[in-house]
Amino acid sequence: MPRMTVNDRPIEFDMDPDTPLLYALREAANLTGTKSCGGGSCVGACMVLVDGAALRSCLITIAEAEGRFITTIEGLSRDRSHPVQQAMVAEQAIQCGYCTPGIVIAAAALIQRNPAPSKQEIEAAIPNICRCGVYPRLIRAVERAGRVVRRQESISAAPAPGISSADAAENVPALRVGNGGLGAAATPAPSSEETSPPEE
Ligand code: FES
Ligand code: FES
Repeated sequence: MPRMTVNDRPIEFDMDPDTPLLYALREAANLTGTKSCGGGSCVGACMVLVDGAALRSCLITIAEAEGRFITTIEGLSRDRSHPVQQAMVAEQAIQCGYCTPGIVIAAAALIQRNPAPSKQEIEAAIPNICRCGVYPRLIRAVERAGRVVRRQESISAAPAPGISSADAAENVPALRVGNGGLGAAATPAPSSEETSPPEE
């Protein structure tokens, strides 16, 4: 049963190890912010951070994610204060809810490794297909997020508060452990203290 850390929580998936990480996150861990086209063709609605790198979660299995640190859109920040999130709002670069999470994850990975990306580097790092043509605003938002990271600018207006990922997890029955539903497949992994043999 593959174990990994998802949004700072240890999780063990009682699922076929060949299950795509995307489906484990959405259907077992109830982290539905990560979107799906069904596999491979939307170029990134399913992006998550795997050890800090943006990867398409439909293309890696939970066996391949074993031991990794996964961050989904729900875990990127507790209060939507990540520079990319703030800049996306400030530049009105958010269109449909389908593409935005993957775009934000890809942009966050980019400015983490390169806070001053060129337009070409932004285009290369964010391959997401957007049919509504948000690209010019997206470029501006990522450049602005980079300036925030470089402390050349601040964005004072935080995005409006909404339901937190923790609240969402608590409120959706599928994530409750032991209820016999899909959530039964994703359980918090026992801590090292719980798995250690008792001292003699
Ligand atoms: S689900 Fe569309 S690229 Fe992964
Ligand atoms: S943001 Fe979804 S199609 Fe443009």
